[in-house]
Amino acid sequence: MKILVIGSGGRESAIVWKLSKSEKVTGIYCTPGNAGTACYGENVPISESEIDKLIEFVQEKEIDLTVVGPEKPLLDGIVDRFVSHGLTIFGPSQKAAMLEGSKVFAKQFMSEHDIPTAPYEVCASREDVEEATTGKIFPYVIKVDGLAAGKGAIIIKNQDDLRQALIEIYEERKFGAAGDSVIVEDFLNGEELSVFAITDGSDYVLLSSAQDHKRIFDGEKGPNTGGMGAYAPAPVGTADVLRKVEERIIRPVLKGMKEKGTPYSGVLYCGLMIHNGNPRVIEFNARFGDPETQVLIPLIKSDLAVLLLSVAQGKLDASSFQISDKYAACVILASAGYPGDYEKGKEIAGIEQLFQSRKVNIFMAGTRFDAERYLTNGGRVLGITVVSKSLNDAILSAYNYVNIIKFEGKQYRSDIGFRVLERLSHKKINRG
Ligand code: AMP
Ligand code: GLY
Repeated sequence: MKILVIGSGGRESAIVWKLSKSEKVTGIYCTPGNAGTACYGENVPISESEIDKLIEFVQEKEIDLTVVGPEKPLLDGIVDRFVSHGLTIFGPSQKAAMLEGSKVFAKQFMSEHDIPTAPYEVCASREDVEEATTGKIFPYVIKVDGLAAGKGAIIIKNQDDLRQALIEIYEERKFGAAGDSVIVEDFLNGEELSVFAITDGSDYVLLSSAQDHKRIFDGEKGPNTGGMGAYAPAPVGTADVLRKVEERIIRPVLKGMKEKGTPYSGVLYCGLMIHNGNPRVIEFNARFGDPETQVLIPLIKSDLAVLLLSVAQGKLDASSFQISDKYAACVILASAGYPGDYEKGKEIAGIEQLFQSRKVNIFMAGTRFDAERYLTNGGRVLGITVVSKSLNDAILSAYNYVNIIKFEGKQYRSDIGFRVLERLSHKKINRG
């Protein structure tokens, strides 16, 4: 089987690495890929927005399965286009991907199907927002409707925050058309958890649950990033919580989307808030999370190529899916300045050394290989993942490997998994 993976992040490195282990896979391509995907497949310089070129490439190389990493091509309708050419592709259709592409769509869908989420109002103008927020008790959340690269949820703690949010959305038009509709919703207390289901629209398998770390600095301080580290499974996702997530969220989503005539196929990423053992949906994503995928994929025991192909063909066999009972932790190393401006082209030392260790996975993201050297080429440079029998050990050993990788301006969080570490061991991690 020949496979194309679309994307260039750590997520795609993890997917390509796992696909390369399949006996069924004879060739892997990645567009545009990075230095990590090039270790297991061939990078081809086509961007995610060049759908016609991607179709041509897949036809020319007779690729059997295409796997879409990021959300943008899904919302541009790549799956519908591929299907109309008779090509096999893993991911939701454009209409199904609206669960991620429009917060208004997702909230209304949840209301229609009694899926637990924060109470909300939909606002079509500044005046609507002002009316919806008058007298509303702080904190609450304002969310722009469309894709906003993870920056579209604004927590409003006081009148100043509200004023600032209104300026950004309606005067500066920071979110462009994504801010044409806005949700005002109640703030949910609790602990966040991400749960991932892989589904062909009818059947599904659950990947592990995971926790991301969104802010750049320790203690959830500083601006939001794409995610600075993750671990799985997360203890907050107990068997009882996961049972409720399946009963109250995943199954109603699949049933509801089918009834709408837009069955949901691909990865359903449920961003949840868990309070007193009850899950509520913060958001849905239509794709694998990053860095969550860097901990979820190493825990999959089954053949990923067979799984994704069966989903794309609409015949998932959930009974043969197996997941490890171990734990995984991932620490992201980023360029100085990220998530703001950063420099590229810094030499990365230590990668070959880690490649030789069977105990660690390096999933490269913003990297390139040039004249025998790995160089930084993005904000999130690489992720270091360790799988172990205990979560404590996975986290602590990931940090040991972090110290081996060196590049100018390397920054990372030293408290990935801090909640579990606090609960489980009270051990302190020292920065190297
Ligand atoms: P979203 O873009 O919807 O994923 O939101 C980004 C982040 O904002 C989430 O990961 C939460 O940390 C936070 N957030 C969003 N909505 C809420 C909410 N209703 N209550 C509390 N926190 C929220
Ligand atoms: N790590 C968050 C995301 O992939 O959206």
